[in-house]
Amino acid sequence: MTDLGFVGLGVMGSRIAERLLDAGHCVTGWNRTRTKAEWLIERGLRWADSPREVALASDVVITMVTDTEALRQVTGGASGLLAGLGEGRVYVDMSTVSPAASRELAERVRATGARMLDAPVSGSVATLEEGRLSLMVGGDAETFERVRPVLEAIGPTVTYVGPNGQAALMKIATNLGLAVQMLAFSEAVLLAEKGGISRETAVHVLTNSAVASPMVRYRGPFVLRQPDEAWFDVDMMRKDLRLALEAGLEFDMPLPTTAVTNEFLTAARGMGLARHDFAVVFDVLAAMAGVEARREAREP
Ligand SMILES: NC(=O)c1ccc[n+]([C@@H]2O[C@H](COP(=O)([O-])OP(=O)(O)OC[C@H]3O[C@@H](n4cnc5c(N)ncnc54)[C@H](OP(=O)(O)O)[C@@H]3O)[C@@H](O)[C@H]2O)c1
Repeated sequence: MTDLGFVGLGVMGSRIAERLLDAGHCVTGWNRTRTKAEWLIERGLRWADSPREVALASDVVITMVTDTEALRQVTGGASGLLAGLGEGRVYVDMSTVSPAASRELAERVRATGARMLDAPVSGSVATLEEGRLSLMVGGDAETFERVRPVLEAIGPTVTYVGPNGQAALMKIATNLGLAVQMLAFSEAVLLAEKGGISRETAVHVLTNSAVASPMVRYRGPFVLRQPDEAWFDVDMMRKDLRLALEAGLEFDMPLPTTAVTNEFLTAARGMGLARHDFAVVFDVLAAMAGVEARREAREP
């Protein structure tokens, strides 16, 4: 079994690390907030005092942090991950970040003698726990083949996309669809409701219809009852849409539905809903339609 390292033990990272421990790997980890990793330490994770120490202890080291800025923080500086990389090691970043920043980081990793892959994931906590996560991979094909078994232990679907940064781009292209679909779903529910169909009936029909993507099936019911904790909050989704819109500007690729949906996320922030699951685009549209957003959720 490969000695693995994991930096960024948040909602997704901690559960991926858990899967790797369960698959029999030795996993060394670090998280900015150590308390969040205590349960994993009890499950066998070896704690290290910095990202650099994680890299030094590992053949393959993985990061999964919020955004491009967080990635800079954990990779740079004297205690950063780059300081612990060297010949023969592989670094895999699973965060959803800017493709350009990912490519630039891959160059810096190459200068240490190590190799980097961008391997963002598509799915949610639920998908991950069901073992149905999908990974996309960017970087050189030879490095990908070396770590393929580790990636397959995380998600059954692992797709090689192309050189460094291309998986990050593919991930952004994937995620814009989540937000756009959620807004379209909200339009459908509210249209039905305004015409006299109950919200429950509309959600049931839609989540069992031709438009029921995996995301619509698990997130659609959030318009009836929001989860206690966001699965993917408004700020995180806004980060991804911003990355998509930036890429659209760079490639002269208009993204009309992404742009409109982004405005709904901005409105959600304006309404104080930034930490809610991005399914609250429904609430924003409901407010525009003069409909109370979550009245069923308040019923016993
Ligand atoms: N949630 C999903 O459904 C989902 C699905 C696919 C992909 N993703 C992507 O996966 C990544 C992680 O998402 P998540 O849902 O796991 O988020 P999360 O629970 O908020 O975790 C974020 C992680 O990044 C760390 N972090 C943030 N800023 C940092 C900084 N400045 N320095 C060091 N560490 C920092 C956090 O450390 P602390 O614990 O100290 O805050 C935490 O470990 C994101 O890029 C997201 O887009 C998420």
